[in-house]
Formats: sequence, C-alpha cells, structure tokens
Amino acid sequence: MTAIDPAVLAAIHHQCFTTAPRPWTEEEFAALLAFATTVLVALPGGFALGRVAGPEAELMTLAVRPDSRRKGIGRTLLSGFEHAAAARGVSEIYLEVAETNTAARALYAAAGYVSAGFRRDYYGRDGGRSLGALVLRKVLRPAGARPAAGESPTVAGDG
Ligand SMILES: CC(C)(COP(=O)(O)OP(=O)(O)OC[C@H]1O[C@@H](n2cnc3c(N)ncnc32)[C@H](O)[C@@H]1OP(=O)(O)O)[C@@H](O)C(=O)NCCC(=O)NCCS
Repeated sequence: MTAIDPAVLAAIHHQCFTTAPRPWTEEEFAALLAFATTVLVALPGGFALGRVAGPEAELMTLAVRPDSRRKGIGRTLLSGFEHAAAARGVSEIYLEVAETNTAARALYAAAGYVSAGFRRDYYGRDGGRSLGALVLRKVLRPAGARPAAGESPTVAGDG
C-alpha cells in the first residue's frame, strides 16, 4: 500500500475524526480520488485533500496521525496543498473548521487564513450543544506558496 491508497487515507481519517466531522470511508476516498478536480497531498504521517473549482479551491480535509503531530507535518501538508492548488490556477482557498478545534484554528491562523463567515450547527449538535464551523479563506500570492522546508509531500491530482 502507498500513502495515497484510499484504505490508508480512510485509516488515518478514522484516527483523526470521530463524529464532527465523521470519518470518511475507503469507498468515499476512492470516489473523491476519481475526480480530476481533486488534489491530494500526502506524507507518511498524514494528508490534505481538497478540490479545485476555477480560481478557488476548497480544502476538504487535513489529517495528521496522532503519533505524528506537532512535528510540522500539518503545516507542510497545508503549504503543499496551497502550492499544488496555485499550480492549477487557484488564487484563493476556502475551508471549514469546527469552532472548538483549537489546534487546527491555530495552524490555519499561523498560515494566514482569515475569517470569511460562520456556519451555525454546521457539524450538528454535540451533546445538545451547537457545533458551528468557521469559514476561513486565504488569498494566495500570484507565485503560489512553496512547500515548507523538509520532506517533500506526494502530490496527486496535478494533471
Ligand atoms: C490540526 C492538525 C492537522 C495539526 O497537525 P500537526 O502536524 O500537529 O501541526 P503542525 O505540527 O504542523 O503545527 C503547526 C502549527 O499549528 C499550531 N498547532 C498545531 N497543533 C496545535 C495544538 N494542539 N495546539 C495549539 N496549536 C497547535 C501551532 O501554531 C503549530 O506551530 P508550532 O508547533 O510551531 O507551535 C492535527 O492536529 C490533526 O490532524 N488534528 C485532527 C484532524 C483535524 O482537526 N484536522 C483539521 C480539520 S479542519
């Protein structure tokens, strides 16, 4: 199996998400990878996956294995996704993040993502409490963002 095997992606996703959002299945990853608009950036410790639509891209998910966190992998994957999207003509990236996800919010803020809206109850209700999503946006520089120094991620969907 390689790092871009849908079964590997699903296994990592299951380690990273429980209910909000729920983990995606191997079949769901396989279906996403079949679209030419899908961009996947992968490292052994995790992956970033999104889709391109004209000048915009949506980062649909970002996942780093629990035992691989706080080593710069999330930052490298995010930068790699931006670089891959920019190479396909994307000038701005959008994403949603749970309002309670302090780790991801810190990562995105440090990478230059800013608030573009709020979706109440986006992730449903957690123990009766509303769990909303922040919509974040980043405008890419014309030259595109370059991956952070260190290990080069595998990029799929560059064609
Ligand atoms: C969010 C996530 C991808 C971060 O991955 P990571 O590889 O640990 O992140 P990095 O090591 O690259 O951290 C980059 C920066 O993000 C911030 N950050 C990351 N984890 C953090 C945490 N637990 N608490 C606070 N800040 C955090 C810090 O600013 C960090 O820089 P620093 O280490 O120099 O302080 C990872 O925790 C994860 O997979 N979480 C579960 C899935 C998830 O929430 N995905 C995002 C959905 S929108």
